[in-house]
Order: sequence, then C-alpha cells, then structure tokens
Amino acid sequence: NIMKELSGLEVYEQKLKTKFNLRKVIVVPGNSDIDLGVKQELGKACVHFLKRIIKDNMIISVTGGSTMSAIADEMIPMENKDCLFVPSRGGLGEQVENQANTICVEMARKAKGNYRLLYVPDPISESSYRSIIKEPVVKEVTEYIQNADIVIHGIGEAMTMAERRKMSKNQLDQIKKSNGVGEAFGYYFDKSGQIVHKVRTVGLQLEDLESIAHVITVAGGASKADAIESYFKLGKSNVLITDEAAAIKLVKG
Ligand code: F6P
Repeated sequence: NIMKELSGLEVYEQKLKTKFNLRKVIVVPGNSDIDLGVKQELGKACVHFLKRIIKDNMIISVTGGSTMSAIADEMIPMENKDCLFVPSRGGLGEQVENQANTICVEMARKAKGNYRLLYVPDPISESSYRSIIKEPVVKEVTEYIQNADIVIHGIGEAMTMAERRKMSKNQLDQIKKSNGVGEAFGYYFDKSGQIVHKVRTVGLQLEDLESIAHVITVAGGASKADAIESYFKLGKSNVLITDEAAAIKLVKG
C-alpha cells in the first residue's frame, strides 16, 4: 500500500523537522547502507529541491563524497542564467571521483552552469597554507565560496572518514579518544556537537554557514544516524535530505 508508506515517510519528515528545527526535511524510502539505488534517490530528491530554489546568478558550493557524487549523477539542466558552482573546501583526502572539484565540474556541466575550482595540496603544512591563501586565484574562489547562496554537503561517520582520508595513526587515535562521531566540511564532531578536530584547508569555515541562505545536508544510511545527529547539534543547516533507515534511528534516538 503505497499511500500508507508515503504518509509514514511524511511522519518522519515532520518529526525530524521539529527535532532539528529545519525548514525542510525530505525522507526517501530504504537504507543507502545496503542499497546503492537509495543513494541515487537521495541525489534525485536533492536535484529536484535545488531546481525549486535556484535563481539566476546564484553561487552553489558543494562538498565531496559518494552521496554528493550521486547528486552529480542525477543533475539536470537548471536553465538559470550564470549560476556558478564552486567546491566548498580544498582537498580533503578523497579519491578523485569523490573530490569536491570533480563533483563540482560534473554538476556545473549537467546544470548548464559555470564552475571555478580550488587546487590545494592535501595535506598542507601550516606555512604553505599561509602563503596559498594569499594567491589571487585562491582568494577569488574563496570569496565566491563565502558568498554562496546555496551549500550542498554530505556528512560521514568520523572514524570512517578519518580512515578513508588515510589520516596518521596519531590523528586517528586523537579523534577516537575525543569520541568523534560525525564529520562534515573537514570538521569532526563529538556527540554533543563539539569540534574535536579540523582539517587544515582553504575554503568554507563552519561559521560562514550562518550567512548562507540555503544549507542543504544530504546524508543517509542507518550507520550515519549518530553522525547526522552530532552535526545538527550545531544547527547550521536548513534542509535535510535523508533516507528512511537513518530517519527511523534519528527519531528513536
Ligand atoms: O569528504 C567530503 C565529504 O562530504 C565529507 O565531509 C563527508 O563526511 C563525506 O564526504 C561523506 O561521504 P559519503 O557520501 O561517501 O558517505
């Protein structure tokens, strides 16, 4: 009975909207941990939502990861004039297909928009970082990022992300010891939403989110429930697009 199922998802949407104080929540059926098709559904839902809010000349900043890559897969022409796609932050240790730069190019092409990229070595030393942020091309893209109208980003489990980025044993131990559970934009959070580690790279800083009109979080899978919860402790997003399995866990917890 499809109608009944739909209304079930709507109940979760309503509950999560209240729980995290959000403008909009979309819950797609299934569990993206075990069914790859569900990630594509998250992608589709995000593209449709984007289509509703995007206007001419908007700047859209995007992060990396496989969920963001699914959004790029599902991207459709936006027919809005002169939209600009930029990556949210410099290299964060992802493989090429999951890097924000790669996703940014694919999204821009399919949406018929423009793009600018950030080329930053990763990991980067303190002294290189200090000089690279002064480079005119880096400065220019950083300004676009800070002036973004829309941010679309993923969330990951802290230890999964730390390992995927091949962090040093020291850093892994530190994140584990400080009970890191979630990660977004290169920031690692514990259960109470405290930042326990931050990757040094250029681009969006967490505090920049406050002045960005639309912050869209896309993350699903039961395994990400705690990570999602830890991120929303900071309450820096307006929209959550998730799946049923994560929603059930989030509503219970
Ligand atoms: O590394 C970019 C990023 O968006 C992270 O901030 C996030 O934790 C991760 O990707 C999510 O990746 P996935 O969608 O593959 O779980």
